[in-house]
Amino acid sequence: MTTLAILTAAGSGSRLGRDLPKALVDLEGFPLVLHAARRLAASGVVDSLVVTAPDGLVGVMTDLLAGDPHIRIPVQVTDGGPTRQASVAAGLALARPGDDVVLVHDAARPLVPSDLVQRVVGAVRSGHGAVVPGLPVTDTVKQVRPDGDAELVTGTPDRSMLRAVQTPQGFAHDLLVRAHRTGAGRAVAEHLAATDDAGLVEALGEPVHMVAGDAAAFKITTERDLWLASLVLQETNA
Ligand code: CTP
Ligand code: MG
Repeated sequence: MTTLAILTAAGSGSRLGRDLPKALVDLEGFPLVLHAARRLAASGVVDSLVVTAPDGLVGVMTDLLAGDPHIRIPVQVTDGGPTRQASVAAGLALARPGDDVVLVHDAARPLVPSDLVQRVVGAVRSGHGAVVPGLPVTDTVKQVRPDGDAELVTGTPDRSMLRAVQTPQGFAHDLLVRAHRTGAGRAVAEHLAATDDAGLVEALGEPVHMVAGDAAAFKITTERDLWLASLVLQETNA
């Protein structure tokens, strides 16, 4: 029984606005995708990696990851899809017999700590079919709907019951396959792809459990996030 990690790295990074895909943007000397892959490999609970690459960059990604001395687990690189959901599905298609647990992790979260990866895999191995890491929300969150040139606030959910969700998310292989198969049909019908994999499991009516997330696993979306990640690395390497 083995654990496969799908590392999603096929996005363009439009909100970061660089002239290369986000996963290849440099963070203190190495591209984001390499940081993330090294951390997954270093966790000791991941047996192989499948990385989804942006259009035309399978070769570049393969050279980068397969040749890295810190990654001593098998790495496959495949073309991603037009949405994150499609990219995960492409990665999932490369799972090998025996991969009974599948993690899905975003290359956009390069500083994921090993113990977070271990916590997620541990919870799946203890019998939960779907596991996500989450953190309490510190801002008050409002629900809104469009209202002319502004938005109308329609509600304020109880913050103590809200969590911000991170990756890696962990799944029993067969459950994730079923969730993606159903989710793919829905995405076509509704022109809407899920932003996380657990959402597809929820849509099946199957339980999703949460373990404690870690602030260090924050997502790089904007230049400010990249700057913050550099500072974190400089501090911890000092
Ligand atoms: N991703 C992917 N395939 C896509 C879209 C996204 O594999 N078609 C990956 C990204 O590479 C990233 C993760 O999914 O690691 C989370 O997506 P996000 O942070 O939104 O990254 P981008 O889509 O690249 O950024 P943006 O939305 O700003 O364009
Ligand atoms: Mg995106």
